[in-house]
Parts: sequence; C-alpha cells; structure tokens
Amino acid sequence: MGFKDKLKEQLKSELSEEELSLLPRGFQTLGKVVILKLNPKLLEKKEIIGKTCLEMFPKIKSIYINKGKIVGPYREPEKIEFIAGEDNPIVEHKEHDVIYRFNMTKIMFSKGNLNERKYLASIVQSGEIVVDMFAGIGYFSLPIAKHCSVKKIYSIELNPESYKFFVENIKINHLEDKIVPINGDCKVEVIKLSESGIKANRVIMGVFPAPIKYVSKALTLVNNNGTVFHYEGVAEKNKYIDLFEEFNEIVQRESYSCKLKSHRFVKSYGPNLYHIVLDIFVFKI
Ligand SMILES: C[S@@+](CC[C@H](N)C(=O)[O-])C[C@H]1O[C@@H](n2cnc3c(N)ncnc32)[C@H](O)[C@@H]1O
Repeated sequence: MGFKDKLKEQLKSELSEEELSLLPRGFQTLGKVVILKLNPKLLEKKEIIGKTCLEMFPKIKSIYINKGKIVGPYREPEKIEFIAGEDNPIVEHKEHDVIYRFNMTKIMFSKGNLNERKYLASIVQSGEIVVDMFAGIGYFSLPIAKHCSVKKIYSIELNPESYKFFVENIKINHLEDKIVPINGDCKVEVIKLSESGIKANRVIMGVFPAPIKYVSKALTLVNNNGTVFHYEGVAEKNKYIDLFEEFNEIVQRESYSCKLKSHRFVKSYGPNLYHIVLDIFVFKI
C-alpha cells in the first residue's frame, strides 16, 4: 500500500471523502524530519495530518509543511511551517556517505540533485584543484572532497547562515585538509583567488538563474585549460544550445576558446522547467 492509501486509512474517520482524496501522494525526508506539501483545502486539518504521519513513521521526530518555493539570491525556502512532533529545524541528513547539517527552514536541499552530486564526486581526478563558486552548505564540495583525492577545493558562499553550517559540515565530515571555505561574494573572492596564484582544473557555477555575469570572473581561474560546470533552469530541453552560445560569446571576448564536452538534465522541477548543466572545456588561445 502506498503512502497516500495508508494515510487515508488512518484518517478516514477524521476527514471528508474530498479531503481524503486530496492527501499528498508522497513526502520528502531530511534527516529525522518529514516535509509534506498540502493542498490548501487541507490546511485546516494540518495538525491531525501531522500527528498521524508521526505515528506512521516511528523514526521520524518532526513534521513540517512546505508552503512556498525556493526564492531570492540565497535560494532560500519561502515558507516551511512546523506542524507536529519536535519543533527542531536543524537536520543532519546523510547521503552518499556525507552528512549535511543545516536549518531546513532557512536553507534549501534538493534531493533531486543527488545524481549530480554523485556525478561530480566521480569525475574529479587525483591532485586536481576545484573552485566551487556557489558552495551553499557544501552540496558539491563535501561529496567531491569525501570521494576524490582532490588537492584542494576553494568553496565560496555568500549567505552567512549557509556558510556557518558549511564550516560545521567540513568538520563533521573530517574534510578540513581538503576544503578551504570562503565567506563572501564570488565576484570578489574569485579574483582574489586568481590574483593569489590559485588556478583551477574545474570551476563549479552551481546556482540559477545561470550566473552569466560571473563567467568572465570564472575564466580568470583557468590556467591553460579547465572545465566549467554551468547550471541553468530552462523551459525547453534544447535551450542548452542557447546557453552554450551565450557562454561562448563571453569566452571569446575574454580571449579564450571553449568546447561543449557534454550536457545533462539534472531534474525537471515543474511543468516545462528543466534543470540542466553544461560541462564546458575552456582553454587559452
Ligand atoms: C543553493 S546553492 C545551489 C545549490 C546546488 N547547486 C544544488 O542545487 O544542490 C547556491 C548558493 O549560492 C549562494 N550564492 C548566491 N550568490 C552568491 C555569490 N554572489 N557569491 C557566493 N555565493 C552566492 C547562495 O547563498 C546559495 O547558498
């Protein structure tokens, strides 16, 4: 029996037929927290739904509902509301042998990006230097450092709240010798890194909308050649070509050249909304 049918069974004496039909099909788990998305018509019944979910999952300590989107330059959840159990939004979520500790009401975590996190952690070669320009709580930096014999990852994060958890996560995962966390705007910090002589084999630009205005800054980190990972949300799958053309124009203006090595669809995140990534090989001419 699926989640919705089990929940219906438990709530059949509390909810009307219409309400039962509107119960969610699924849920998201982060650490010991379950996050539900509820149809607005069910909000009046959120307490009993939360309490019932808690009884259904003995290992879960809290139930929250997600009432918004991911918004703003820090990519924060708009509104996550506590409904049952312990009101403790600090989660420790384990994935691919990495622990991510963070406040899930203030900081996003996209489980749909799991394959991308695994992919990046599978391709970085021994002795490489990586710059993660939009590091967050270490979404990409932590798995790369955990699974690759990387020389150093310089990871830049602007939001002090995310940075605080990122520093904790580096310690929790014992990766202090591999990751250098930097709290600041990557527009400034990337230039500081390249002026101090740091050159990267790979530069990750993991935020959207695509940080196109930072591409010329990212290029300063590339010595003779390197790979830039360029992320974007697009309405049509073949829009990756336009994204590459836009990137290519900047590269040429800066006296570099580039080749599209590959592209991937990370996930779809709405009707006709695709999260894509381009792996672009950049070299000096
Ligand atoms: C949420 S992450 C992207 C997540 C990751 N790509 C994933 O999907 O799992 C993007 C991060 O970039 C940070 N950020 C935004 N603008 C920035 C800037 N100018 N410099 C450094 N970090 C920035 C945000 O605070 C946020 O933590």
